[in-house]
Amino acid sequence: MTPRIAVIAGDGIGPEVVGQALLVLDELRRGGVDVDVWELPLGADLYLKSGTTFPLELRDEVRRTCAAVLLGAVGDPRVPSGEHAHDILLGMRTSWDLYANVRPVRALHDRLVPLKGKARGDVDLVIYRENTEGQYVGAGREHGRGTAAEIAMSREVHTRRGVERLLRAAFDFAHQQNQPLVMTDKSNAIPAQGIWRRVLQELRADYPSVPVEALYVDALAARLIEQPERHRVIAANNLFGDILADQCAALAGGLGLAPSANLHPAVPGHIGLFEPVHGSAPDLAGRDVANPLGAIRSLGLLVEHLGHAAEAQRIERAAEEVLARKECTRDVGGSLGTIAAGRAFREVLRAL
Ligand code: NAD
Ligand code: IPM
Ligand code: MN
Repeated sequence: MTPRIAVIAGDGIGPEVVGQALLVLDELRRGGVDVDVWELPLGADLYLKSGTTFPLELRDEVRRTCAAVLLGAVGDPRVPSGEHAHDILLGMRTSWDLYANVRPVRALHDRLVPLKGKARGDVDLVIYRENTEGQYVGAGREHGRGTAAEIAMSREVHTRRGVERLLRAAFDFAHQQNQPLVMTDKSNAIPAQGIWRRVLQELRADYPSVPVEALYVDALAARLIEQPERHRVIAANNLFGDILADQCAALAGGLGLAPSANLHPAVPGHIGLFEPVHGSAPDLAGRDVANPLGAIRSLGLLVEHLGHAAEAQRIERAAEEVLARKECTRDVGGSLGTIAAGRAFREVLRAL
């Protein structure tokens, strides 16, 4: 049976970059990749018109009938509460238990590495971000909003099950790649995060060949700038993984290039959510300037998830090639708009 993917272009630059990713998918389909596309018009426009975010029946239907979801971005200045974005994005991550947010960071050209004396091979790592717990559990309270006595509280939740399964996914990957694993936390200031160190130590016995290091997140943030080459696999809680992903994206040429996969790796064939790391970039929306490569590379991760590893590699090679030729957008040293950059990408892809 032909697998189906759902596509949520979303807000801001989402439709522009996803539009280019879908044109790349058309190319792949011409080359024999068999997939049906189901576009869902979710996002701020729909929310503002009807109050609809992501109806539960629809989300369940996507879960039942789709192999994967491609998302552009959600978030719109007209919806300051971010309610729709929360329901759509965090809704899929948590209700489908996509506990591993896998964010590969690979510099595709020397020129894209902003660090003195570093080259592309020095920035090549994968972040395993816990994707269902931590400070994203949404449990918090406010007292006396707007008064002098105002108190805003939030809690963070780390369960043994949640920490262990994320660390196992990171260990499995480090083992497979024959690379060391760095786990990061802030347990010196936030004792509850000590669970991450304890579970890490327990799991070491199962992965004797994987060198392991635990680093406080402030120290890791500095070392990523000074010696990015020391890091190949990073495991982090939800919030730290979010922050480090943008930092590392900047080390590899910027947010416009960075892809991600939200997975439930314990179950092969489980639905996955694929999205660029960047947001809806309202400053760029509608101007034909957004870089489509983050969305296109996320499509690459998606087709790999569907079993098309060679096509995924072709997408990475084509991305390297357009960047080498500077047939890309301004944020990564080119002079093309979104549409022309997408066209250049497809031409290179066809020739590979
Ligand atoms: P952002 O990632 O949208 O933008 C940060 C910076 O990166 C901006 O300067 C932007 O111009 C630049 N940038 C982002 N994508 C780019 C691209 N493809 N090409 C070139 N430059 C690009 O982050 P933000 O400004 O903090 O957030 C804007 C909105 O997006 C907010 O509502 C936020 O909540 C939302 N957001 C959504 C997602 C998601 O849906 N996955 C992710 C992050 C942020
Ligand atoms: C991301 C985004 C989201 C997150 C926001 C939009 C809730 O920054 O996917 O990295 O914090 O996870
Ligand atoms: Mn983020």
